[in-house]
Amino acid sequence: MRLVLVGPPGAGKGTQAQYIASNLSIPKISTGDIFRANVSGGTDLGKLAKTFMDRGDLVPDEVTIAMVRDRLSEDDAQDGFLLDGFPRNVAQAEILRDMLKDWGLELDLVLELVVDDDEVVRRLAGRRTCSQCGRIWHVEFDDKKDDKCDACGGALFQRDDDKEETVRHRLEVYQEQTAPLVSYYVDEGILVGVDATGPVEEVTQRAMEAIRPYLG
Ligand code: AP5
Ligand code: MG
Ligand code: ZN
Repeated sequence: MRLVLVGPPGAGKGTQAQYIASNLSIPKISTGDIFRANVSGGTDLGKLAKTFMDRGDLVPDEVTIAMVRDRLSEDDAQDGFLLDGFPRNVAQAEILRDMLKDWGLELDLVLELVVDDDEVVRRLAGRRTCSQCGRIWHVEFDDKKDDKCDACGGALFQRDDDKEETVRHRLEVYQEQTAPLVSYYVDEGILVGVDATGPVEEVTQRAMEAIRPYLG
């Protein structure tokens, strides 16, 4: 299964990606996570990416595409993958299509997580991420009273780009650059919308139901 998750910042792409990828036994490939790992590792890629991420802008396509090409070439991605946060504009989508075509492959499905702006802001304002295992939590919805990960005990942190002003800009960038992907994938005939409101488990159930008809 070759799957893409699209949706605004805070829609729950990362949250759902953990469950969907594990249900389907495919790797979850999140460009945001790879960039953040490079930022904390202090690599050249991380230093470059950070200047764009801190503003809430997209990292330049050449850099992002080269990184994804490398990741998709790894062994664990040969029998399928779930992309979270890539592609993020039509140019990236076209290059992904050509890249897969060169390998004799194509995407099976694009899931759009649909949720309104107010909910997105609430979700991002309370988001915490585990510095050890990467799990995503929410202070209110997961009733987090301490700053420790319930899964591994690691320390939780708040993402630098979850400041209100940066969130607002990320939403604008989504509307301008990423939202056009929805009609792009409708035209390709592989887009399915999923209502991403309500409890996490219910959203996962809806996503799995949407995926079922596409499983080989
Ligand atoms: P990225 O990390 O991809 O950020 P994003 O798209 O803005 O999305 P988020 O990770 O903020 O939200 P999410 O949808 O994953 O929501 P989550 O599951 O965490 O990208 C960051 C930056 O990297 C970009 O700005 C850009 O600079 C760069 N970048 C990345 N990819 C790029 C690309 N392809 N090209 C160029 N640049 C790129 O959930 C949010 C919160 O809500 C959590 O607290 C969660 O617990 C909670 N939650 C989730 N679901 C529910 C629910 N059903 N009910 C209640 N709470 C919920
Ligand atoms: Mg995410
Ligand atoms: Zn953890």
